[in-house]
Amino acid sequence: APARPNASDLLVWYDRHRRVLPWRALPDERPDPYRVWLSEVMLQQTTIAAVKPYFSKFLDLFPDVAALAAAPEERVMSAWAGLGYYSRARNLHACAKAVAAAGGTFPDTEEGLRKLPGIGAYTAGAIAAIAFDRPAAAVDGNVERVMTRLFAIETPLPAARPEIRALTLDLVPHDRPGDFAQAVMDLGATICTPKRPACALCPWMTPCRARAEGLQEAFPRKIKK
Ligand code: ADE
Repeated sequence: APARPNASDLLVWYDRHRRVLPWRALPDERPDPYRVWLSEVMLQQTTIAAVKPYFSKFLDLFPDVAALAAAPEERVMSAWAGLGYYSRARNLHACAKAVAAAGGTFPDTEEGLRKLPGIGAYTAGAIAAIAFDRPAAAVDGNVERVMTRLFAIETPLPAARPEIRALTLDLVPHDRPGDFAQAVMDLGATICTPKRPACALCPWMTPCRARAEGLQEAFPRKIKK
């Protein structure tokens, strides 16, 4: 039977290859929940390359959640112009106001985060893990691809989502949940890519069930149309 994947193999890889991103804390820094939240909302439907200039513009204009909450709606909307999916900007502003009204600190649990405007299951998990080191699963399309390959999940998306979530949560190491979440994201973006994944460089090559069958590109399974 193939070995079970373990978080530590991934984290050793991450410690060597982690991407430097403007919203990402350095290894010896504490993450700023405001930056984590802002980046995760921007990255919901947008690439890292497109987000970067907007992220730095927002930090210049609105350095913290109080500044964003106090800004007029039209300044927030015009700063967002060009990023698309404008309901994200309206929710962002509403969320900043809610956090500011509640004392200016973000909730540190998924449950608390989910109650805020614009924060769904993925974003709540990402913020809980990355900003607060809570053992949460942050499952986006990249993570779905990694997990469906790792465990050769035959159920097509979206039906496989609960299973993917449970398997991901099961792998989260309780000493480094934030690094684990970001490591899976980096693995999906740089190694476990949709086409021609770089399996030979993957820290999870040995336990990967899809790779063992030579079927890495066949996951996630799609419903035939
Ligand atoms: N995609 C979504 N969130 C991300 C993050 N925190 N780092 C890299 N890519 C991401």
